[in-house]
Amino acid sequence: MKLLVLNGPNLNFLGIREKGIYGNQDYAYLVNLLNEHAQKGGHELEVFQSNCEGALIDKIQEAYHSGVEGIVINPGAFTHYSYAIRDALASIQVPIVEVHISNVHKREEFRHVSVTAPVCTGQVVGLGLRGYLLAMDYLTGTV
Ligand code: DQA
Repeated sequence: MKLLVLNGPNLNFLGIREKGIYGNQDYAYLVNLLNEHAQKGGHELEVFQSNCEGALIDKIQEAYHSGVEGIVINPGAFTHYSYAIRDALASIQVPIVEVHISNVHKREEFRHVSVTAPVCTGQVVGLGLRGYLLAMDYLTGTV
């Protein structure tokens, strides 16, 4: 299967930012974890991160043209207010799983709202980096 993992703003700062919340592993560790997982399952994977809303939207639109079959997205703080990313996700008929490393429901109230989740197939929250692997397994039908 052809998969895309998208990470939004500040996720490139894993291992640097708020380690008590997001853990000690850095972004390179996450990318490696995802690539190894895809490789084991025989899946094609692209991992993309941007701090810019437009770049994430461009990537979602590109996924439509390039025949991506499943998307895992952690939109970072855009989760809570980006109608533009929501609209981009709603535009394509591809299964999408939203992932959050932290349990957003245990945190500040503004994090309890996701404007993107209603246009996703499902959501994985608070299971750390392993949440991405669970999301990939769901999309590939492994679990
Ligand atoms: C996050 C949660 C968001 O509220 C936050 O803005 C992030 C990361 C998570 O993975 O837990 O940047 O999406």
